[in-house]
Amino acid sequence: MTEGHAVVTGGSSGIGAAVVQRLLDRGMEVTVLDLTTPVEVDHRVGYRSIDVTDRRAVDNAIEQASAERGLIRSAVTCHGIRGSFVPALELDEELVRRVFDVHVVGTLLVANAVVRKLRAANQGGSIVTISSTTAYGGWRQQSDYGVAKAAIRQLTENLAIEWAEFGVRVNSVAPGHTLTPMVQDMIDNGYDVAATETRIPLGRLAEPDEIARAIEHLALDASYTTGVCMPVDGGWTAVGK
Ligand SMILES: NC(=O)c1ccc[n+]([C@@H]2O[C@H](COP(=O)([O-])OP(=O)(O)OC[C@H]3O[C@@H](n4cnc5c(N)ncnc54)[C@H](O)[C@@H]3O)[C@@H](O)[C@H]2O)c1
Repeated sequence: MTEGHAVVTGGSSGIGAAVVQRLLDRGMEVTVLDLTTPVEVDHRVGYRSIDVTDRRAVDNAIEQASAERGLIRSAVTCHGIRGSFVPALELDEELVRRVFDVHVVGTLLVANAVVRKLRAANQGGSIVTISSTTAYGGWRQQSDYGVAKAAIRQLTENLAIEWAEFGVRVNSVAPGHTLTPMVQDMIDNGYDVAATETRIPLGRLAEPDEIARAIEHLALDASYTTGVCMPVDGGWTAVGK
């Protein structure tokens, strides 16, 4: 598949914005679903301001985008919010609910909306979800975000086996620390980036486009790959505990 229509959630910023550029470079039509629209919009992209936790808004956006730009063959769910970064005993349950709602429910709603239309059209396609290195093993201060990302990893496997019969591949990328506004916000709030870089075998954070390259591969090129979660983390998960 080298062209067609793709939807990218969270495509206004960070990793999602890098994915949008890669898909445009592949000749695709792109719709972005995000809470915000970037200051500098790309006029080739259709931006829709929605909250991906709102099922009606998601279904309407997918319906309208499909009517305007054609059947959506690929969806990349790059939306996300950071966790509270506190020990489990200090977690605020409302914030935990929001992290799960945005990451897990939002990913499921978007994937379902896209695949319902693919199934109705009797067409195959691909979904790429975004997990995280925090989905592997136990982590301190990750009982909100890290657990939600582990759920996305599991969700990806479940959807892959349910949707293979429709010709829809479902894969995930688990980024390591990537220099985006989300991580910049953590650094601004005291996150020790130097200690992190020391633990990463490649010795540095990722650029958003380095994550987007792996997403592009899984979305468009990996025709026999489904149900995998690919760490793109400079070797972080290979180190173990
Ligand atoms: N940056 C990293 O180091 C890193 C590491 C692992 C995983 N991730 C994941 O990668 C994805 C992209 O992260 P990023 O670093 O590019 O972050 P980012 O903050 O730069 O971009 C996230 C985008 O998601 C949008 N968004 C948030 N909540 C939304 C909602 N309810 N509905 C619609 N849009 C919403 C935001 O408006 C924003 O544009 C996220 O799922 C994040 O958890 C990031």
